[in-house]
Amino acid sequence: MSTALVTGANRGIGLELVRQLQAKGLDVIATCRSSSDSLDELETGTPPVRVETGVDVASNTSVAEFGKKLGAPKIDLLVLNAGVMNLDVIFDLSIEKVQKQIEVNALGPLRVVAALVDKLGEGSKIVIITSQLASIENNNGGLYGYRMSKAAVNQCGRSLARDLEPRGVAVAMLHPGFVATDMNAHQGPVSAETSVRGLLEQIAALSIETTGQYRDFEGAELPW
Ligand SMILES: NC(=O)c1ccc[n+]([C@@H]2O[C@H](COP(=O)([O-])OP(=O)(O)OC[C@H]3O[C@@H](n4cnc5c(N)ncnc54)[C@H](OP(=O)(O)O)[C@@H]3O)[C@@H](O)[C@H]2O)c1
Repeated sequence: MSTALVTGANRGIGLELVRQLQAKGLDVIATCRSSSDSLDELETGTPPVRVETGVDVASNTSVAEFGKKLGAPKIDLLVLNAGVMNLDVIFDLSIEKVQKQIEVNALGPLRVVAALVDKLGEGSKIVIITSQLASIENNNGGLYGYRMSKAAVNQCGRSLARDLEPRGVAVAMLHPGFVATDMNAHQGPVSAETSVRGLLEQIAALSIETTGQYRDFEGAELPW
């Protein structure tokens, strides 16, 4: 039996990842700040999802304490999904909101990997849910904190790919598509179900030979 851990699992893409991973028979550890009825329902499914509340990826102490108490076996799949977006514009900028996005989207995944790295080994996979908005080929402007934080987490993923290759751990940076979730007031044309089906296909295809790649949920390679 394989074990997967998903952050930001109480709603949106994270919740759907937990659902589909459970349906594939994986033991899933679903972390969140606070749970939801939809996530709680999966605790009684087969196999039961293990819900861990109080895990704030923006907090050093929260993540470190979670790492110490987890006591799980090897983690075969670690999905760093938790994220926030603010529609920053330069003419009315809140630096605090930019900082928040960097804390959650860029430092959050690094914190979680640092806390759990000893549970990753030969054959494990790390997936960073990033965005195509990270691309330096940015012709649209705006979204300062979101673009900067996702570009930073892509760089984090590149370093992880090199550092963990000798341990047999593969890393991917995956864009889920423009998905209808709370993040965009459900405006995205792609459903969470379709996005996650595609993400899981990309995760299945990920290997140490393809480690460090930046792709979308349909497998297209994205420009850095
Ligand atoms: N939707 C899209 O079109 C789209 C496109 C590209 C990339 N993405 C990425 O996909 C990922 C999931 O987004 P989504 O669309 O599912 O958005 P969402 O519905 O807004 O869900 C965001 C998730 O992140 C969690 N989160 C936020 N801050 C957190 C923190 N400090 N600690 C722990 N969890 C935290 C939220 O938990 P709370 O309920 O506690 O806030 C929630 O579970 C994000 O990384 C996002 O950037 C989404």
